[in-house]
Amino acid sequence: MTALENDARNAGAQVGLDANTLTIRGGRPLSGRIEIKGAKNLVTKAMVAALLGESPSILRDVPNISDVQVVRGLLEVHGVKVSEGDEPGSLRLDPSAVESAHMVDIDAHAGSSRIPILFCGPLLHRLGEAFIPDLGGCRIGDRPIDYHLEVLGRFGAVIEKLPSGIRMSAPEGLVGAKIELPYPSVGATEQVLLTAVRAKGKTELSGAAIEPEIMDLINILQKMGAIIAVDTDRVIRIEGVDRLEGYSHRALFDRNEVASWAAAALATNGDIFCGGARQPEMTAFLNVFRRVGGAFEIEDDGIRFFHPGGELKPVVIETDVHPGFMTDWQQPLVVALTKATGVSIVHETVYEQRFGFVDALVKMGANIQLHSECLGAHHCRFGQRNFLHSAVISGPTELHGADIEVPDLRGGFSHLIAALTAVGTSRVSNVGIISRGYENFLTKLEQLGADFTIEN
Ligand code: EPU
Repeated sequence: MTALENDARNAGAQVGLDANTLTIRGGRPLSGRIEIKGAKNLVTKAMVAALLGESPSILRDVPNISDVQVVRGLLEVHGVKVSEGDEPGSLRLDPSAVESAHMVDIDAHAGSSRIPILFCGPLLHRLGEAFIPDLGGCRIGDRPIDYHLEVLGRFGAVIEKLPSGIRMSAPEGLVGAKIELPYPSVGATEQVLLTAVRAKGKTELSGAAIEPEIMDLINILQKMGAIIAVDTDRVIRIEGVDRLEGYSHRALFDRNEVASWAAAALATNGDIFCGGARQPEMTAFLNVFRRVGGAFEIEDDGIRFFHPGGELKPVVIETDVHPGFMTDWQQPLVVALTKATGVSIVHETVYEQRFGFVDALVKMGANIQLHSECLGAHHCRFGQRNFLHSAVISGPTELHGADIEVPDLRGGFSHLIAALTAVGTSRVSNVGIISRGYENFLTKLEQLGADFTIEN
């Protein structure tokens, strides 16, 4: 099977992914140009927003990833007609026949995705009820939904826990509320936005997340007819309206994918141009990339990332909510840090268990210790809770080939990079998970000159 056929099959798999394996012969620099499409973490929410419109929406630059297929399936079981849009890679979403779906169908289409929770606000407005099955997502800690349920309750949703999931209803309709999040959660902020835009009256959200993907969701909702103001202090004010129309929108590029390929360029001594990448959403990453010793050139149509020669330098970083250093950027970068001369520290403050991927790196020869203390400038929520959420990476170390298994999306990409930098051959299993968030990653690896074969 070719890389292209395998990418297409993985992205098309709606429930569960083919657990397939790559044999990677490391040591070749990755070099060339790849194109980056819309952000997974925006596109999937933009597709849900289409449920709120009284007319069809058009979304452009939709990546060919399995998380998009999952949301497409979920929209279709709710009666939304999804078809190709007005150019390749675009979708037309027609919500004129939205209907309730059975829990078992939602469950079957949701797979391991957490997206169904974001259907609740729009479905409560349109149908007066919503169901969500038990939710999955990457294995990176508990990933609870307590903020979501609290938020929906504040709008007036009645929440009933059933053995198979949760049923919600809104017998009185939903009404705007004053809400304060205990932590700037991306998902809970999106929940508030998708619910408040059609709720009766005003909503004030404080402690909101302000990630660029959230700002782009706000752009979309404003195009649909919503009234949303964003203050500088994490306060978002929304005035509910009676009716929203469809939107036409080109999605923000995937900055997590860009950071991943940039780290791959650095770790493999390579040179990768990411077409479609832009500077403003990547500032925090670019600063760290430069401090480690990577080089970049910002062009109108993308960003070139390369290893300029010389030693890589150690860094101390803390992951954080925007505008900080994103949690999704640390896993690929840690592989590059194994090549840096000296001791680096990564303090993960967003998820309590996001270092599961380092076991494989250690097996390959990396020198990484995990600690439960907060090894950073700040104490985070996980400091007193025995979670191994600080990593100390000593380098430089040479990685050697090994048999490793992909644990989750971002950790999986870091495993690919590790195998690509390693001396010798690695077998990386369960790589199907990576197509949840990286469009055509096997084809891109081939274009960039990676030496690998696909086992099935
Ligand atoms: N949290 C709660 N209760 C909740 C919701 C969140 O305690 O009800 C906690 C989480 O457990 C976590 C923290 O709040 O410790 C932040 O979670 P957040 O809600 O911000 O994350 P999310 O919306 O579930 C999105 C992305 C993640 C990304 C985070 C942080 C999507 C589909 N997922 O998750 O992306 O890491 O924001 O930016 O948008 C990925 O792409 O690989 C990925 C995991």
